[in-house]
Amino acid sequence: MTDDIRWGILATGKIAHAFAADLALVDGARLTAVGSRRLESAQAFATQYGAAAAYGSYEELVRDPDVDVIYIATPHAMHLDNARIAFEAGKHVLCEKPLTLRTADAEEMVRLARQHDRFLMEAMWMACHPVIRELRERLASGEFGTPRHVHAELGFKVQAGPEDRMFDPALGASALLDMGIYPLTFAHLMLGPAEALTAIADLSDRGIDQDIAVAGRYPGGALATMTASLTAYSSRKAEIATSLGRIDLEDFHHPAKAVFVPQVPGQGSWVLEPGEPVEILGREPVIGQGYGNEAAEVGRCLREGLRESPLVPHDQTLTLMRQMDALLAQAGVAFS
Ligand SMILES: NC(=O)c1ccc[n+]([C@@H]2O[C@H](COP(=O)([O-])OP(=O)(O)OC[C@H]3O[C@@H](n4cnc5c(N)ncnc54)[C@H](OP(=O)(O)O)[C@@H]3O)[C@@H](O)[C@H]2O)c1
Repeated sequence: MTDDIRWGILATGKIAHAFAADLALVDGARLTAVGSRRLESAQAFATQYGAAAAYGSYEELVRDPDVDVIYIATPHAMHLDNARIAFEAGKHVLCEKPLTLRTADAEEMVRLARQHDRFLMEAMWMACHPVIRELRERLASGEFGTPRHVHAELGFKVQAGPEDRMFDPALGASALLDMGIYPLTFAHLMLGPAEALTAIADLSDRGIDQDIAVAGRYPGGALATMTASLTAYSSRKAEIATSLGRIDLEDFHHPAKAVFVPQVPGQGSWVLEPGEPVEILGREPVIGQGYGNEAAEVGRCLREGLRESPLVPHDQTLTLMRQMDALLAQAGVAFS
């Protein structure tokens, strides 16, 4: 491996563009190649982001000797096949979330990474975000009291045709897999592994969950309520109610800050009232929209010879996959 971590981007859709824009801001990272089903698309992408090589197939991309790590940005239903060819070609992998449509496939991806002794990380950029990392650490220290209730919601009305991956069951369409994975992961990061989860959903006429609500019980009796939607504009907020006050986050999956407001004794009154807010900021700068922090984490791990990231360990990814499998089954969603 050269000094720079050399990246290859597999697919040229929406998130691939957002990632490439942030990658350009990461020290010690270089986009060297891009692969697409269509050569013209790869060439246009390579020109836009300054990649040296453009390929008209994913197979050619993973064979490029000037690539260390492949970023997989296809719809979830394709991730396992894409990761397999990358590992077989000796490449490390950062794979978009969710890793796969079902746990068994995600376990297979992890197995392949281990078999080929390659790095694998789910692109759960929220877990690499400086504010989320700081909040998680300080919440665990007890500084803000005991967390008792997490509420988080993510959703927007998807503006796309029926062939789009957001609606097509064959491409893994699902409000839970696409959006609900964030509130679910947020609750896991803040409260620990869920002990029980229940879902209720509204299904589209093609049988996918277009709106879903999830309730969970976590260690110590903490509770979480979460929603995800492909049809409505959710607040994109998260709240953590604790024994001492409340923490609020706007755009909780990539927040500019979190704010803790303690409850303190009121003046001469027996009631408690909101005290001085405490702003929780990251210790490192956010790189771009935050995708840069996930790319930086991959680079850090590769330089240290790690095969998984402590911020997004395989166990965590598989735990969340198992939770989503069970929730989709409860909601009556089955991918063929
Ligand atoms: N981390 C995040 O914030 C975030 C945000 C959005 C999405 N995602 C995840 O990223 C993945 C891609 O999402 P996206 O919104 O970028 O999707 P998208 O805009 O539809 O792009 C997906 C790309 O995958 C390739 N592809 C390969 N086979 C395909 C097929 N049968 N149908 C459609 N496209 C196919 C295409 O690239 P080529 O034509 O170049 O081969 C396409 O442009 C999903 O797993 C999603 O969950 C993550």
